[in-house]
Amino acid sequence: MTPLISILKVTKRFPGVVALDRVSFDVLPGELHAIVGENGAGKSTLMKILSGVIPDFEGELRLRGQAVRFADARSAEKHGIRIIHQELNLVENLSAAANVFLGREKRNRWGLLDDRGMARATADLLQQLECHISPSQLVRTLRVGDQQLIEIAKALAVETDILIMDEPTSALTEAEAARLFRIIGRLRQRGVTILYISHKLEEVFSLADRITVLRDGRLVQMLNRHETNVRAVTHLMVGREIEAMDLGTGRQAGAIVMEVRDLCLPWPGHARAWRLQNISFALRRGEILGIAGLMGAGRTELLECLFGASSETPTGSVLLEGRSVRFAHPWEARAAGIALVTEDRKRLGLFANLSAGANVSICTLERAALGGLVRPRRERSLAGEAIHKLGVKTAAFETAITSLSGGNQQKAIIARWLLTKPKILLLDDPTRGVDIGAKEELYRLMDQLCREGLGIIVTSSELPELLTLCDRILVLCEGRMTAEFSRSEATEQVIMEAATRRES
Ligand SMILES: Nc1ncnc2c1ncn2[C@@H]1O[C@H](COP(=O)(O)OP(=O)(O)OP(=O)(O)O)[C@@H](O)[C@H]1O
Ligand SMILES: [Mg+2]
Repeated sequence: MTPLISILKVTKRFPGVVALDRVSFDVLPGELHAIVGENGAGKSTLMKILSGVIPDFEGELRLRGQAVRFADARSAEKHGIRIIHQELNLVENLSAAANVFLGREKRNRWGLLDDRGMARATADLLQQLECHISPSQLVRTLRVGDQQLIEIAKALAVETDILIMDEPTSALTEAEAARLFRIIGRLRQRGVTILYISHKLEEVFSLADRITVLRDGRLVQMLNRHETNVRAVTHLMVGREIEAMDLGTGRQAGAIVMEVRDLCLPWPGHARAWRLQNISFALRRGEILGIAGLMGAGRTELLECLFGASSETPTGSVLLEGRSVRFAHPWEARAAGIALVTEDRKRLGLFANLSAGANVSICTLERAALGGLVRPRRERSLAGEAIHKLGVKTAAFETAITSLSGGNQQKAIIARWLLTKPKILLLDDPTRGVDIGAKEELYRLMDQLCREGLGIIVTSSELPELLTLCDRILVLCEGRMTAEFSRSEATEQVIMEAATRRES
């Protein structure tokens, strides 16, 4: 069979890094080809080259045997190639429909924007995705999971032969991911060839025909899915065995550090008047408390409330080490010893025009200061320690944060907050987009921090993650707490049951 795409000795150098080093492989027509590898392995870079986003590289690309060179994403689109980006590329202040049709606006016969036509087409696409967002809703008001669906709708809006999906499920819950897989099934029936990147290997093994493993910019091996297994692929990716982890044993929870009583968060203008309703729980020092729930259950909102970052004023009370507190602003929460690592790193976590190092040190500059002036060497050494402790892969302190791989950006943000020496660490889906090896490191780090006396609250869209990490798990459904499980009681099944237990 003539390959649909041939990648021949593709090399991409960035200042200080060789992101891809003579990578060669073929993609067959109609196959679902997965690309896996650790954070920073070069997956996204390769996909950006294939989709014209990075026009400048060494080596050659062939499409149906013909050498091609894309000047930009538009010219790759003309050859039927589209990409769903890992870091969402949406315009915040435009509606869902305007984003879906950005740059390809429909016009009516008088040449005016056909808003209604676009809204209708968007509604259709969203319906196919079984997603209930209104086409007119502004993207900035949507949560990441919904934004990811808009990004997918955008790619599906035009006929494509080759669809590149760069971690399409990283912000989706399992149910939403299942929806996406049904769509992938339909696309494959239509003969669409799919290049698929994911850190979730179960996903890769249920979808892919072939799997290409990249490591440090080099191709390690290409495998037929049927001839390999998760363990073998993991080994190729990280170069070592990843053991099943038993983290919780022997942890000693200490005194109560935070107590939440009857926390309610109003939801003005919504049929369900409360975003969160009567949430009560306590967090102890040295314990990891998990918050489970489907998308929209209120996980993120709960963490935002505790951090003084919710747009509405919550009612109820929060006691911090026995003292009643009410945070009107995140910096008050920070000063009281609370840190929040947000789920939406691109929008709320990163300072895109600062270096990796400055992103780490930004909340703790006072520790590097003397007489009101920041001492750069001190700033570097503090940030450097944290970067080292978390294993953030960055060429230098000065490297632009945006040039770090997704997982390494996430680690940089966690490093920033750990420098603030918090009493309570709130982590909203912290391993989103983080590779298996780095995930293991993050789990161990959380376990260690917890044993040092930190109280940790963590949410995750992956239940196995909560089951590995947490001493207790609270389950939310539509803003209410429907269950609480101890480590020994918690199973995926009982949690799912509680997460879907609606008020009758
Ligand atoms: N624009 C850029 N400028 C400088 N370096 C870059 C740029 N884009 C990527 N890199 C570097 O190239 C390497 C590969 O990055 P890439 O984003 O392709 O990794 P990835 O495999 O997609 O990782 P992840 O799983 O974290 O998304 C990394 O070392 C990254 O820091
Ligand atoms: Mg990537």
